[in-house]
Amino acid sequence: MTSDAVRIGVAGLGRAFMLMLPTFRADTRVRLVACAAPRAESRDAFEAEFGGTGYSDVEAMAADPEVEAIYVATPHQMHAEHVEAAARHGKHILVDKPLAVTLDDADRMVNAAEDAGVHLIVGPSHSFDAPVLQARAVIDSGALGAVRMVQAFNYTDFLYRPRRPEELRTEEGGGVLFSQGVHQIDIVRLLCGGLGRSVSAMTGAWDPTRPTEGAYSALMDFHGGAFATLTYSGYAHFDSDIWMNNVAELGGDKSPEVYGRARRALEGLDAEAEARLKTTRTYGAGDAPPTARHHEHFGPVIVLCDRGDLRLTPDGVEVFGDFARHFEETPLSTVPRETVIDALVAAVRHNKPPAQTGRWGRASLEVCHAILHSAETGVAAELTRQCGIYKEEMTP
Ligand SMILES: NC(=O)c1ccc[n+]([C@@H]2O[C@H](COP(=O)([O-])OP(=O)(O)OC[C@H]3O[C@@H](n4cnc5c(N)ncnc54)[C@H](O)[C@@H]3O)[C@@H](O)[C@H]2O)c1
Repeated sequence: MTSDAVRIGVAGLGRAFMLMLPTFRADTRVRLVACAAPRAESRDAFEAEFGGTGYSDVEAMAADPEVEAIYVATPHQMHAEHVEAAARHGKHILVDKPLAVTLDDADRMVNAAEDAGVHLIVGPSHSFDAPVLQARAVIDSGALGAVRMVQAFNYTDFLYRPRRPEELRTEEGGGVLFSQGVHQIDIVRLLCGGLGRSVSAMTGAWDPTRPTEGAYSALMDFHGGAFATLTYSGYAHFDSDIWMNNVAELGGDKSPEVYGRARRALEGLDAEAEARLKTTRTYGAGDAPPTARHHEHFGPVIVLCDRGDLRLTPDGVEVFGDFARHFEETPLSTVPRETVIDALVAAVRHNKPPAQTGRWGRASLEVCHAILHSAETGVAAELTRQCGIYKEEMTP
């Protein structure tokens, strides 16, 4: 542990925390000093592993002077309350995606952080994946000219992973848009410069036993001229990891034996039993995912530029120029999700926020709502709350 490690309090010790656990265990630039969680067994497990103080209430944890920054990993609809509590006590914030469910909540959060003078970072999100950042770096180098078109698509078993009941109710942040679409939107916005202009979309809610959006297809255009298609299905039949070298979302090798496993695990479960199943993947009950041999990814992404194209892979970026192609490998760190901690440390220690600020997260959330709105009304939705990659580049 470095002596100036950022001292983190964690709000919510569920699945999202489990996925960050390998990072927190391995990265000496951060130290977990407190947690807030309603379940005593999670708090006990936390104190046994990390020491520090377990609280049953986020506000009390936020008041702890030992805590410098709070990682908010509670359900979407609680993010606003917990971010506001952190800001009230002058703590920097890393809030898991999506920033919030409603744009009103997003406004409250952005204002609370800015008024308190604390950093608000939305992550982890797949826009922090090293190959995505590498693609952005290739674009920034200017070697390929302007970005013209992006295609992003992902076919997963998302809708059949065990859920809390509200995760299947769109108005409470359920469905694929808020939990999954927001990753894809973040990636596409990062590659296209961030400033979306409008979105036309259609959505699908095809399984009456899980009555929320399980799929969408959207066409989005950007200030500057680029446009993008974003397609997602969580209906667990075709799996696009086959086009990602058979590497699963978290970077592990995808075994063909997992086919049908998500649906099978839910067979015969009522809502309560399903929510209970979800908690078996939580801290103090299950363990963190195994070490991966590749980067995390969010499905195939192709970027077309004036003088060449990019294909994102779980190991780097394939660059297709006019006369030659090459592969830019992104070496795997011993610390998973290291780029998220890079961003946190740069913000907290050096006052340099990443692209994925609260305003950025609000802009991605706006696109989620725009997709739903366009699908409902049949007309394109104009975007008015976008922000560019750098803080000062606000929508004209
Ligand atoms: N980035 C990722 O890879 C990733 C993956 C999964 C989830 N997430 C995000 O993380 C968030 C949580 O989702 P999840 O799947 O981990 O849900 P979850 O239900 O597994 O975990 C949420 C946790 O919050 C706790 N909690 C509830 N109320 C609380 C309160 N008032 N104070 C403190 N803790 C409280 C619950 O006990 C639970 O352990 C969501 O916003 C989701 O989008 C991100």
